[in-house]
Amino acid sequence: MKGVLLAGGSGSRLYPLTRITNKHLLPIYDRPMVQWAIEALVRAGIDEVMVVTGGTHAGEFLRLLGNGHDFGLDRLLYAYQDQPGGIAEALGLAERFADDQPITVMLADNILERSIKPFVQAFAEHPHGARVLLSEVSDPQHLAHLGVPELDEQGRIVRIVEKPEVPPSRFAVTGIYCYDSEVFSIIASLVPSGRGELEITDVNNHYADKGALHYDILEGFWGDAGESIDAYYAVNDFVRAHGANRP
Ligand code: G1P
Repeated sequence: MKGVLLAGGSGSRLYPLTRITNKHLLPIYDRPMVQWAIEALVRAGIDEVMVVTGGTHAGEFLRLLGNGHDFGLDRLLYAYQDQPGGIAEALGLAERFADDQPITVMLADNILERSIKPFVQAFAEHPHGARVLLSEVSDPQHLAHLGVPELDEQGRIVRIVEKPEVPPSRFAVTGIYCYDSEVFSIIASLVPSGRGELEITDVNNHYADKGALHYDILEGFWGDAGESIDAYYAVNDFVRAHGANRP
């Protein structure tokens, strides 16, 4: 399967660190953040990746990642998002790269203790609809900064609520998603949210409305290093002590 790594955005929650570089180039333990996401995709068996970035530091990705061969990639392509139009708009730039095939999408500030290989394999076996990876988060205040699924009695996702005041479950939707090729026509039909962006949660809710949004619950640590400066350090501390992307 092909992978799309989303590494744009202004990183405003990590100002002033992100005034001088892209969030995904900040260090997590001993390497730039984006390298952990590349490793997650490679260890899941993905060897063709498009990195979508934007802003003023986009050239640094080329200097760091080059053609991707040093990181275990066969092909590495780049796309440039020339406005802060949201995660779903960034993903839309990968339409021709995806070439009507299923894709795995990852937000490059997400760091996981365990490999995402089982999740990617599960979708590869039935590459229809969409699949999200959930993580159990006990603190409702933490969930208020994330996407949270509402589950029905059978445990199916009814919808995802973005940044809920009252979380409808104790799970966070992580920034790792698998989609069939219909994702690009869904993106084309979206309207900007209140914050003026095309939201990945709206994409997922299109699939949920059709009963085509599936999920796995991940084991081990998960962190969104771009969520806040405290989250950034929590991820650093975890990775320094335990590493990431372990089988
Ligand atoms: C995004 C998604 C959210 C998800 C989170 C995971 O939020 O919109 O649903 O839970 O990534 O990292 P953002 O980081 O853009 O606020």
